[in-house]
Amino acid sequence: MQGRAVYIKTFGCQMNEHDSERMLGILESKGFIEVDEPKYADIIIFNTCAIREKAEQKFMSSLGRVKYLKKKNPELKIIISGCIAQLQSEHLLNKAPYINYIIGPDNLHILANIAENELPQKVFTHENTDMANIELPVVRKAPVKAWVNIIYGCNNYCAYCIVPYTRGRERSRPMERVIEEVKALAEQGYKEITLLGQNVNSYKDKDVDFPALLEEVNKIEGIERIRFVTSHPKDLSQQLIKTMKDCNKVCEHIHLPLQAGSNKILKLMNRKYTYEEYLEKVKLLRESIPDISITSEIIVGFPQETDKDFEKTLNALIEIQFDGIFAFKFSMRPGTTAASLDGHISNDIKTKRLSTILNIQDEITERKNKSLEGTIQEVLIEGKDEEGLIIGRTKTNKIVKISSELQCGKVFKVKITKANRHTLEGNVL
Ligand code: 5AD
Ligand code: SF4
Repeated sequence: MQGRAVYIKTFGCQMNEHDSERMLGILESKGFIEVDEPKYADIIIFNTCAIREKAEQKFMSSLGRVKYLKKKNPELKIIISGCIAQLQSEHLLNKAPYINYIIGPDNLHILANIAENELPQKVFTHENTDMANIELPVVRKAPVKAWVNIIYGCNNYCAYCIVPYTRGRERSRPMERVIEEVKALAEQGYKEITLLGQNVNSYKDKDVDFPALLEEVNKIEGIERIRFVTSHPKDLSQQLIKTMKDCNKVCEHIHLPLQAGSNKILKLMNRKYTYEEYLEKVKLLRESIPDISITSEIIVGFPQETDKDFEKTLNALIEIQFDGIFAFKFSMRPGTTAASLDGHISNDIKTKRLSTILNIQDEITERKNKSLEGTIQEVLIEGKDEEGLIIGRTKTNKIVKISSELQCGKVFKVKITKANRHTLEGNVL
């Protein structure tokens, strides 16, 4: 292939963002550069997400928009990767025959061949059990923070979720590889590591479990902060809470998706915990790590969710007082257990419930942030916002804007002067 420019558009979660970093890593090692407009590219990659219908629609319209480029330049390669690629596989070719290759999340390594040769096969979505052992180059754009995969796939089969069908079974990456990667990142000057997986709490490499892995990463010199996403409440152990408390670099923040406050809905969702059990874990977290911030995810309008069930979710938000949440309207994903349940909820009701949830949580978030005014926080400087203000983050994952010039990658003590709904403002001491 002659072309040497790649345009990549990423939809979805951090896992996908990180897969894009790896695809760029592969292509840059083959001499490609990244461009920010599809019209300049020799390869266009859409790294897709299937979590909700909206994400799928966004991808389909982006795909439609590049069709004319292919007409103008038949040499252009259009590649679809990510979760829709895995799910729809060769069927995508019926919808858009101008696609050149379809690559599932387990087969990213094939890009190295595609970069150099014309391959007869177009679809690479077969299961690859060796994924956790394949090391790929990575191009990271943020200079301070880096994502590191520790576990691939998911075994949980939450009733609403498509991920087990797109990212396959759970496979943990060998501990030595994780440690090697973090050490190399520390040497390159990275300060913050986020350990990534659909359910990091079920990490297991021989006798090393997730808390043991955290302890090892905590020992690596040069790394100052460790975060991890995502935790499943059913697997959040007392040992993990103890490890979070004991490891000085592990940040005082946990993202712990609750999804719903009603036990009936949690059971239908196949979440394998009750609201009371969740609450107990929140209590334990707060007793052990007093300043911990807890964020969450909520789905409204799951099938059979009555007004009473929904009220339980509202009450849960009030009782728990999360630092922040992401909330979504339930979106039916074909093939999941939830798709075949009775009692789907109308879009109108879902919209109303979502807006109620977001209003209540906004008030809580604002109140929580206000309580930080006047406090002193350790802030790791990450860069600048669009207005040129310095941005950093507290260990509790809150964004702080500061008006003085400060060096990226350094931690400063900052006095919080003002709290807004989604950001804090402060002055360096
Ligand atoms: N509809 C709406 N939200 C969903 N999520 C996952 N699947 C669906 C769906 N079908 C949400 C969950 C999950 C987050 C990544 O996306 O809250 O934690
Ligand atoms: Fe990430 Fe899930 Fe979207 Fe796949 S479907 S990109 S795993 S959010």
